[in-house]
Amino acid sequence: MSLKDSIESVKNDFLTEFASINDSTGSESIRQKYLGRNGLVTNLFKELGRASNDDRPVFGHLLNQLKNELSEKINSIQAEDRTASDNELVDIALPGKLYSSGSTHILEQTFNDIKKIFSDIGFSISYGPEIDDEYHNFTALNVPEHHPARDMQDTFFVDKDIVLRTHTSNVQIHLMEEKDPPLRFIVPGRVYRNESISYKSYCLFHQVEGLFVDKSVSFAQLKGCLEYFVKKMFGSDCKMRWRPSYFPFTEPSAEVDIWDEQRNQWMEILGCGMVDPEVFNSVNYDPKIWRGYAFGMGVERIAMLKYGIEDIRLFYGGDIRFLRQF
Ligand code: DAH
Repeated sequence: MSLKDSIESVKNDFLTEFASINDSTGSESIRQKYLGRNGLVTNLFKELGRASNDDRPVFGHLLNQLKNELSEKINSIQAEDRTASDNELVDIALPGKLYSSGSTHILEQTFNDIKKIFSDIGFSISYGPEIDDEYHNFTALNVPEHHPARDMQDTFFVDKDIVLRTHTSNVQIHLMEEKDPPLRFIVPGRVYRNESISYKSYCLFHQVEGLFVDKSVSFAQLKGCLEYFVKKMFGSDCKMRWRPSYFPFTEPSAEVDIWDEQRNQWMEILGCGMVDPEVFNSVNYDPKIWRGYAFGMGVERIAMLKYGIEDIRLFYGGDIRFLRQF
């Protein structure tokens, strides 16, 4: 048999034998048989001397190829075997690795609850600018220039005439400037006030504004809508009360308080009222045709009441012990 034929036949024998082994013991004996010191492939190398000078490099190359191919195959079965036996060492009764994952911030969860309640009853959701001009934040909302809310104490000025909005009510004006009536929106967002900081007030906080404009809108509808909201948010046993109030952009105006079980006192959660005709005038809605109600609620206050959170500053501290509770 020529050397070339011997190479072929050794290779075929190997492949047949290799197909039937399936563990590292089998693979070790096949390695010895073919690649060991007296192995079939090793012996073929010894025969290279018999080949002619021309054939020797060709057969040498073929033999090296064969040797590499065989050892790769044997190595691969041994590697598979190793992984399998490593897996057997895993004790599935041991506690697993603990990965800590983030969660939705409690304020975001409260936003989501509020959005769900209002979108279920037909409100769309819109957003507006946090940095705005005085016109949208005050003037168009019928807040006259001398009004105390414009005082530097309450408002952060970014530039002359430009403020960090003090409430989400600025978006009422943007919405009505952009859209024709009727409209029904809520506007979640962040607001800023240069106020003294306490357990219930912070220099930034969050509000959800509401605005409903149509041809026949009544104060009774406003009451119905907000009582529905309070029941959905806090449950039907929750104690709430209405208080007459004053806002330049609504007439009449009211505020809603919720009984704070922890402090044994009322906590204000929102202001509301019927849209003042002056506000309609500033956006060119005809106040003889259009009526509206509006409200603005404090998201932190709502979350504090609902989850018994004692201090508004906890929302912004990033303290993991606080955040993990929700
Ligand atoms: N903007 C008021 C505030 O920040 C809340 C408010 C009161 C909003 C009455 C309204 C409203 O839309 O009608 O305290």
